[in-house]
Amino acid sequence: MPLAGISFHPISARIGAEVRGIDLRNPLDAATFERLHAALVEHQVLFFRDQDIEPAHHLALARAFGEPVAHPAYPTVEGFDLINVLEVTPEAPPKIDTWHTDMTFQARPPLGSILRAKVVPDRGGDTMWASLFAAWDGLSARMRSYLEGLRASHSFAHGFRHTLAEPGAMERLRPAIEANPPVLHPVVRTHPVSGRKALFVNRLFTTRIVELPEAESDAVLAFLFEHLETPEFTCRFQWASNSIAFWDNRSTLHRPVNDFWPANRKLERITIAGDAPR
Ligand SMILES: [Fe+2]
Repeated sequence: MPLAGISFHPISARIGAEVRGIDLRNPLDAATFERLHAALVEHQVLFFRDQDIEPAHHLALARAFGEPVAHPAYPTVEGFDLINVLEVTPEAPPKIDTWHTDMTFQARPPLGSILRAKVVPDRGGDTMWASLFAAWDGLSARMRSYLEGLRASHSFAHGFRHTLAEPGAMERLRPAIEANPPVLHPVVRTHPVSGRKALFVNRLFTTRIVELPEAESDAVLAFLFEHLETPEFTCRFQWASNSIAFWDNRSTLHRPVNDFWPANRKLERITIAGDAPR
């Protein structure tokens, strides 16, 4: 597909764009990569349709942007230990129903993730994304200056506390808990490419703003979580088989909408290594 064929079509005013005119089975040339990279930073989440790709194409796209990383808790595609399988069945209901940024329990949370739909339900099962730039820009100047310089604790054990309550889960996940003690991140991070500021806390993993007394931290975080989830900061994507979503994990939250269960859904995800927020 020639470079001139690529085009980007925003799906809301603040976040999300559909990419047309690209076939991800073809190698990504330098110019195409540059356009995709710039579009990812600008639109924060890119959507692709009708991409009948192999796992190797999925990996090649991820590797153009960085090093794929394994997840401590999810199963993988056979023969591809860097591609996680996120599968919902009648016996295995969806576990996460909370807005979050992926893996902020790590000192270097991912740059982004590339999620590909293999099996989609007939109805429902959309995913939503929210812009951390729009959330930051949407705060008052007073609140922005109050938050500058604060740090928050992010916890794997907190994020997976419901899973950990299941029989046998504590034994299975103990190594992951021990390998991922809570970490601190700035409440306001600066995007390493665009320089834009992002409100970097999330309801799933963020537990405490460490410079504040506990009650004040709880109240401020409750306000920020609700603010981040303002519908006008979000976009919503309806999956079809061979749809792909590629989000910038440095500037977004996302959440599944679990209105399809007990129908089946199977997604495959590659997560790309990121840098320490600052
Ligand atoms: Fe996620």
